[in-house]
Amino acid sequence: MRKRIENIGQLWGIGQPASGRLSGAEMQAFSSIKNAWLLMESDRIVSYGSMKAPDESAVDEVFDAAGEWVFPAFCDSHTHLVHAASRDQELLMKLQGLDYETIAARGGGILNSAKRLAEMSEDELFQLSLARLRAMAAMGVGAVEIKSGYGLDPQNELKMLRVVARLKQASPVLIRATFLALHALPLAFQGRKQAFVDLMVKEVLPQVAQQGLADFVDVFCERNYFDLDDMRLLLTEANRLGLPAKVHVNQFSSFGAVKTAVELGAISVDHLEVMEVSDFEAIKNSNTMATVLPGCSLYLGIPFAPARQLVDAGVALAVASDFNPGSAPSYNPELNLSLAVLKSRLLPEEAWNALTINGAAAMQLEQEVGSIWPQKKANLLFTRALPSLTYMPYAFGERKIKAVWLNGQPYSEL
Ligand code: NIG
Ligand code: FE
Repeated sequence: MRKRIENIGQLWGIGQPASGRLSGAEMQAFSSIKNAWLLMESDRIVSYGSMKAPDESAVDEVFDAAGEWVFPAFCDSHTHLVHAASRDQELLMKLQGLDYETIAARGGGILNSAKRLAEMSEDELFQLSLARLRAMAAMGVGAVEIKSGYGLDPQNELKMLRVVARLKQASPVLIRATFLALHALPLAFQGRKQAFVDLMVKEVLPQVAQQGLADFVDVFCERNYFDLDDMRLLLTEANRLGLPAKVHVNQFSSFGAVKTAVELGAISVDHLEVMEVSDFEAIKNSNTMATVLPGCSLYLGIPFAPARQLVDAGVALAVASDFNPGSAPSYNPELNLSLAVLKSRLLPEEAWNALTINGAAAMQLEQEVGSIWPQKKANLLFTRALPSLTYMPYAFGERKIKAVWLNGQPYSEL
């Protein structure tokens, strides 16, 4: 089935960087063509061009965009979309002045999510997660990474990852699965952290790899959670099994996790709210993506990661939602685009690249999605003709996206 979209007011996000991602000053280019057409064959982009040089090849269908703008769909490279329940009651504790770490110490936090998840059947967890994924796709997310990490025991971690595998089958959204092996120490292992790390790394990880249930591994490397030795053990074993790492580092403290992750070849280091000079030095000139999560900073009231300084230092930067019930209860990509500009001082073009091609690269999906380019999936967003590209982050809270296409087809949530 060949389709052509004609009369696109402006077609944005064209191109494919040679290295598959954009670093530093390269992020300022978000290329476009005015008055454009886009040709698709089944689920893929074939070519594009200006209406001044119309495509005259035979097609099965023509769509008139009537001057609307078209963008590549968002790529959200860090989420905890599979979870059993919201934790809205923790907001009341926050309003009383308790912080994230104190709420966790009082029985909220990740352990609370794990308890709810253990009580829920795999089918129910799948249905809940699918509903969230559909809502996310309707907001313009065409590719997403989903972590485990609320299981905290072999059985429930595998349950979460099987749910992600089912989501991959059930949805047109392109999904990558991450085994978040070390997220929090469950009550049963209090005082025995090494035994838990050994269980997850030496027993569960090989099963996950053998069953093909994960594309990546992850660890919450943070004071009171897991340390550099834990990360080293996990990433070394994962490397041996051919699973790259995406890691939670520097959310609340800096103690060398960025350097260790980069040395062990992590494809992304995520969070980065607390960054010292040595952390900048470690990530500069590396192949590791810096991923910032502005929704988490907004919700927890912690500093926004120094995205501007990272890009100025020449680093490749992605923006992701961190969608999860405890620290970032929103998956709205338009909001994250606005936050990246308003709070982290990215330029609109940089923010778009951070949420599209660099988000794709942070999931090793840069050949499949993240820009308008021949052979990539036709995952598209439509807006009315806006006053400027800057209007997109500027008008925060306004829903600018009018339609979403995934795999070359209009997507509707229902
Ligand atoms: O990325 N920081 C660790 N994990 C999540 C929060 C998980 C939770 O509170 O449920 C995050 O912020
Ligand atoms: Fe996270």
